[in-house]
Amino acid sequence: YPIFAQQGYENPREANGRIVCANCHLAQKPVDIELPQAVFPDTVFEADIHVPYDVSLKQVLGNGKKGGLNVGAVLILPEGFEVAPKDRIPEEISAKVGKLFFQPYSAEKKNIIVVGPLPGKKYTDMVFPILSPQNPKNFLKYPVYLGGNRGRGQVYPSGEKSNNTVYNSPIAGKITAIDTDAEGKSLISILNNESGETKNTTVPPGPTLLVKVGDTVTNDQPITNNPNVGGFGQTEGEIVLQNPLRVIGLIVFLFTICLAQIFLVLKKKQFEKVQLADMNF
Ligand code: HEM
Repeated sequence: YPIFAQQGYENPREANGRIVCANCHLAQKPVDIELPQAVFPDTVFEADIHVPYDVSLKQVLGNGKKGGLNVGAVLILPEGFEVAPKDRIPEEISAKVGKLFFQPYSAEKKNIIVVGPLPGKKYTDMVFPILSPQNPKNFLKYPVYLGGNRGRGQVYPSGEKSNNTVYNSPIAGKITAIDTDAEGKSLISILNNESGETKNTTVPPGPTLLVKVGDTVTNDQPITNNPNVGGFGQTEGEIVLQNPLRVIGLIVFLFTICLAQIFLVLKKKQFEKVQLADMNF
């Protein structure tokens, strides 16, 4: 969940560019972002975010049963950008945003926006309403980073595995017993013949066991399938924070060029008349 990132990391984007959701959402899946090419200061605009997946997919839930996937995202904007306040969002954008609830990543990092978990069936496409800064220091081209996820993670903040991942054998040896309780939790005993050591490992309900009593396994060999059907992805876009004076300046400049060109043609026409008059027949 985004809250796990907010609690565990001051900045969700690591120095190498990796967004921290990937630490627990181990599978990689695509995401996409659409931004305007340029925006003026103090303007509300939209960022369109896509977390595509096959919405007919089912994943294992915490109790081992199957269910739909949820989606969530984190959007890292340039400094000074933030979620647009409700009263500033134009009707047209507001209709596309719908009931989505956005949150700043933290009190200090208002330029980072998180959303989710949300039912994936409805929200593979999300529209973020964003307000550009009122008095920016610089008018530049800035990068924008998006992280988007569908489906449950593989690791909890405690470091424990979730039941939405693959389980491995803790030692090499032979499987001597598999006890599955009413909830579907399996206790697996593995005996290493050489050292005489027996190790137990627990597999929660969710992943499907690939081994049976009597099988020999190597150390770290997967003993379940990987039930995860979701995944996390990140991408980046860019946006120009544009100074309106520059645009006005450009228009004025182009207009004067146009005018100058017209006058040059007029002058040429006038001179041609003089040439004609000067000719002696
Ligand atoms: C669940 C998104 C960071 C571990 C989820 C879900 C979403 C999500 C949407 C619900 C999935 C579903 O129910 O289908 C994100 C995003 C993150 C992020 C966008 C980054 C901003 C993390 C981090 C961790 C983590 C850092 C680990 C410390 C998990 C786990 C679950 C989960 C274990 C399953 C919880 C359960 O059902 O018991 N995440 N997550 N996530 N996330 Fe994340």
